[in-house]
Amino acid sequence: MAFSPSEPQRDTCFGCGATTSSPSSRGLIHARSAFILPEIAEYLRAHTTPPTPAQEKARDEIHRQDPDAVYHAIGDDQALLLEILTSVTRTRRALELGTGSGYATLSLARGVGEHGQVVTCDIEQKRLDRAAVIWQGAGVAERIVAFCGPAEALLQEGNTPYGLAFIDADKEGTLTYVNALLDGKLTEGGLIVVDNTLYLGLVLEPGAATTSATAPIARPDYWKRERDYRAEAAIFREFNRAIKNDPRAKVLPLPIGDGLTIIQKVSHSIR
Ligand SMILES: C[S@@+](CC[C@H](N)C(=O)[O-])C[C@H]1O[C@@H](n2cnc3c(N)ncnc32)[C@H](O)[C@@H]1O
Repeated sequence: MAFSPSEPQRDTCFGCGATTSSPSSRGLIHARSAFILPEIAEYLRAHTTPPTPAQEKARDEIHRQDPDAVYHAIGDDQALLLEILTSVTRTRRALELGTGSGYATLSLARGVGEHGQVVTCDIEQKRLDRAAVIWQGAGVAERIVAFCGPAEALLQEGNTPYGLAFIDADKEGTLTYVNALLDGKLTEGGLIVVDNTLYLGLVLEPGAATTSATAPIARPDYWKRERDYRAEAAIFREFNRAIKNDPRAKVLPLPIGDGLTIIQKVSHSIR
């Protein structure tokens, strides 16, 4: 999941505060690192490799399919990081839990290369159907195997481990999925990337003093009300604590997007 802004913020980049008058998704999602000072975020954006024309086309198509979906997709900075991590680890078989718009899947597919494979799943067939259009348009459809069903079921399938897994499905399941991967579904030394681990900044202990950098994010009226954001933040507060203390994992939470944690599966001997 990425951010779900309420209407007034729709034309403003979370990362740098830049605004766009265009209804297009371009220029809007380029960075979502809302935990970084706006001027630094803009500097980072200006010095980051931009999305390819195929990725920009995918963004526009996602926006055309469903303007809301574009706000749930990962940001371009996260997308690039996913692609780099997938390729630098020479992952040939990647996993994604929670396909959503298919934009992150596209990054994984770029990262595994033309002979690689991405296995992805979502509980909503409608999302998989829309994502298939994105993958076709970007020329990576043949690298992707999509399942309609819960992440937990997919993790019980097969014995071949994945080299990298990206987790962005139901928040409640996050720790279960990470445990399954560390228990055997991930190669030794493989990576797990988990989205939303700062959860709007609400992972800070309730009542914690906030600075100017976190206060706008932690403002509860900023977000749609139909979800219990504080309950979901509590899930990540517990997740962050548990994974930090897990002897099977090296853990690096990054303040990009809504918080992106990189976990490497390690044996005791190399921790
Ligand atoms: C925030 S979206 C993922 C966005 C995606 N990373 C992107 O770049 O577009 C979360 C997705 O997880 C799916 N989902 C929710 N619960 C799930 C579950 N138990 N198993 C698999 N997918 C699930 C939702 O249907 C939704 O499409």
